[in-house]
Amino acid sequence: MNPPVKKAVIPAAGRGTRFLPASKAIPKEMIPVVDKPAIQYVVEEAATAGLTDVCLITAEGKEAIEAHFAAAPELEAALEAKGDTERLAAVREATDLAQMSYVIQDEPKGLGHAVACAEEAVAGEPFAVLLGDDFLDARDAALADMCAVQQRTGGSVLLLIEVPEDQVHLYGCVDPVAVAPDDLPGEGELPDGLELFTITRLQEKPAPGTQYSNLAVIGRYVFTNTVFDVLRETGPGRGGEIQLTDAIDTLAAMPVEQGGGVYGIVFRGRRYDTGNKAEYLKATVQLAAARDDLGFDLRAWLTEFLADD
Ligand code: UTP
Repeated sequence: MNPPVKKAVIPAAGRGTRFLPASKAIPKEMIPVVDKPAIQYVVEEAATAGLTDVCLITAEGKEAIEAHFAAAPELEAALEAKGDTERLAAVREATDLAQMSYVIQDEPKGLGHAVACAEEAVAGEPFAVLLGDDFLDARDAALADMCAVQQRTGGSVLLLIEVPEDQVHLYGCVDPVAVAPDDLPGEGELPDGLELFTITRLQEKPAPGTQYSNLAVIGRYVFTNTVFDVLRETGPGRGGEIQLTDAIDTLAAMPVEQGGGVYGIVFRGRRYDTGNKAEYLKATVQLAAARDDLGFDLRAWLTEFLADD
């Protein structure tokens, strides 16, 4: 059997231009969703899937991300002295999630380039990639399922959502062939109820009417180290950036024995995109409304607010 996936790479080195001016002086990944920075939800998602090591790809000027996951001895001592155990636990939560490491991407040359920066950190092991500006609801986690498919097949795994025809051009999309879990190559148990596909080709943001399907790739992937060999050979693509989609398209065309083979799982749960303002606002309201400490009052207020509007 293939080794289990234990490492995660979180690219968070982008400029976050869609979130300006908020992201001018603080990283967009540090903007809070309710009371935690968006990036903490992403690291929590990795930890919940059993991943123990997280390598964050950051950029100069984004030091606040590293500070958030480091211990804060003075603050912790002050809270301890006050006997504020609740806030102390909240502060320590971020430090205890995973073994964190950081790699600087010198320039935002694209998602493929950001992933390539993690080669040394993952040191020959299979790894998950979680984009730093969206996260899946903890109640609908899918990353552990993806890791199980990777461990069984030894290939790469994508997370897919069904999108309306007229929105496919906003995403990377796949050419999928449905496969029954029992027919998936390799050995090892898979969770029940997976909607699985073998992926034969990918395209990045296809022009309307040219898409392979309406199954779009969202920001969760699992790879073997073959992706690094492929990324080294991947030239700049759309927008002059090194596109991860182009590298996955190459992996999909490669035989499994050479590190190829790409599979997809369909995700039908709740997902929050904190990289754009409208979706960020929805995520904040949805997550606050689901909280025991805030939800009741917020829901009552929202009902009243909408009735008055
Ligand atoms: P996005 O394109 O959504 O993020 O990349 P961005 O570039 O920060 O945002 P905009 O478009 O300017 O508003 C998806 C993820 O990949 C990371 C980003 O930080 C984000 O988490 N990324 C992107 C990198 O780490 N490096 C890159 O070169 C590009």
